[in-house]
Amino acid sequence: MPARDLLAAVREYHDQTKHHVSRFARSLGYLDWATRPDPFRTFDSAARIDLIEPLRAAAGGRGSSDGRAWMGISYDELFVPAASPRVAPGLPAVSVFLRHSLGLSAWKQAGPSRWALRVNPSSGNLHPTEGYAVCGPGVAGEHPGIFHYAPDAHGLEQRCAFAPAAWDTAVAHLPAGSFLAGLTSIHWREAWKYGERAFRYCQHDIGHAVAAMRMAAALIGWEFSLVPGWSSESLAALLGVDRTGDFDGAEPEEPACLAIVSPPRGPIMSDVGLQWAEVDPRLADAARAGVWTGRASRLSADRVPWDSIDAAAEASRQTPSLARAVSAGPRRARACGTRFGASPLASSVLLGRRSAVALDGRSSIDLERFVFMLRRLLPEACPPFDALCWEPRLHLVLFVHRVTGLEPGIYVLARTDDAVANLQRAFHANFAWIRPAGVPDDLPLYLLAHLDARRIARQLSCAQDIAADGFFSLGMLAEFDEALAAHGPSAYRQLFWEAGAIGHALYLEAEAAGARGTGIGCFFDDGVHELLGITDHRFQSLYHFTVGIPVDDSRLTTHPGYAWE
Ligand SMILES: Cc1cc2nc3c(=O)[nH]c(=O)nc-3n(C[C@H](O)[C@H](O)[C@H](O)COP(=O)(O)O)c2cc1C
Repeated sequence: MPARDLLAAVREYHDQTKHHVSRFARSLGYLDWATRPDPFRTFDSAARIDLIEPLRAAAGGRGSSDGRAWMGISYDELFVPAASPRVAPGLPAVSVFLRHSLGLSAWKQAGPSRWALRVNPSSGNLHPTEGYAVCGPGVAGEHPGIFHYAPDAHGLEQRCAFAPAAWDTAVAHLPAGSFLAGLTSIHWREAWKYGERAFRYCQHDIGHAVAAMRMAAALIGWEFSLVPGWSSESLAALLGVDRTGDFDGAEPEEPACLAIVSPPRGPIMSDVGLQWAEVDPRLADAARAGVWTGRASRLSADRVPWDSIDAAAEASRQTPSLARAVSAGPRRARACGTRFGASPLASSVLLGRRSAVALDGRSSIDLERFVFMLRRLLPEACPPFDALCWEPRLHLVLFVHRVTGLEPGIYVLARTDDAVANLQRAFHANFAWIRPAGVPDDLPLYLLAHLDARRIARQLSCAQDIAADGFFSLGMLAEFDEALAAHGPSAYRQLFWEAGAIGHALYLEAEAAGARGTGIGCFFDDGVHELLGITDHRFQSLYHFTVGIPVDDSRLTTHPGYAWE
């Protein structure tokens, strides 16, 4: 299809899947429990590699002293580049990385029902994202291999073994011990509940998973960066999700992204980091020629086709010709290691991240902490945003309810320098655009209107109380037209990935502050635009979020993610 038609298809999907007060995006309208998808995919007959013992080894068991290095670091230390790895290359590093990014964080129980939560959040807890690791020889077997991550068992399933020479060539310029992490989405898992809007949620979830992986890499003192330049077709071949025979009858997996996970390069290179290092796409040819095992398990007895999702997925795939256009130049480095008082343990923040189901509607946060949180969302060369290989294009519209020292109202955080003028041009002319007193000059926060925004925020987020009952809630506005014009239809996915990464950073900041966040995928798109005066697609709202003090549901009991921990 010509590039112009692909763009039109992406735009059509976006407009068609908006929620309106009078009409929600299409879905079945009820939950068909008979076809509820299994949250855990397995590859039957694939060899299983245990990650529990390697995790124990990394935690200080069996002669290793690494454990103290990574288990003892504070959350704030995740923002300081490590001079040396906290876990040496090998299976223990892969294990700690996956446990703290895509592993289980808890089991919840209500009466006879039991369900798992994960380190990475997911809309409706449906978890469309599947994770893969591609490791060099000697990490998990003699040959380089491609492995599917099974979070329920915390294990790897070996999908492919391929020729060592191809691996050596592909990663020749990377530090020894580097491995690759790949993500895919099973759209059906999300569409089962949310219908045609589900493709958006799958992309948010990828953004969250990327950010979760970036933070897990920081925990072990490693670097992490998405790889630009890989087409969806090559990625599908590398991860084996194009092997139709292995997916016969099973729900397909849509390739999303590939990342390098790498021990630090040392002090000289650490300013530049891994940003946008490449991996030779010919690695996909080696995978094609490799020895594959395993068949994808079927997740539902039956499924409902959503043509609009298939069309959006197809239109937004990374093509070989467009692939290279997404990489941007290195960003300005910034000292990310600032602290805010006592910082909790990094691993407990990463594993303790949860969504609030309800917020208390009365607690407040200090301006100083609020400013600190917002600063962590700026897209400079700090985790998790240093993992993204495109120019930042999302800005925040904040509904401030209870921040001590700041007037309640509607605010904007412009995440890039040149966005302010564009936002001003797109918004109603009568907004104040005042720099609030007490907010440092280097935080680009502007007051638009001074008012009690609780009712508006609640209404715009599909009448969900959590949007009004926290310290603040927000909408994420993307430079929609410009991103699509500059980078083509695959930028549609990346805008949602960036939104997911911002949401993830906020989840962790909330947790570190003793509060709690919740991603909000249900909102009235054009209601947000009307409030701000946006009449075209220069900016589009892609994701909402709220932060406050949670009210726990005493009917639920919580159990550890893994019985062996
Ligand atoms: C993209 C996305 C959209 C979400 N939308 C909503 C929402 O509209 N309302 C809500 O209460 N929770 C929402 N959530 C929170 C999820 O329900 C929550 O992440 C999931 O149940 C897993 O729980 P956990 O985050 O505690 O692990 C959303 C989460 C994500 C990642």
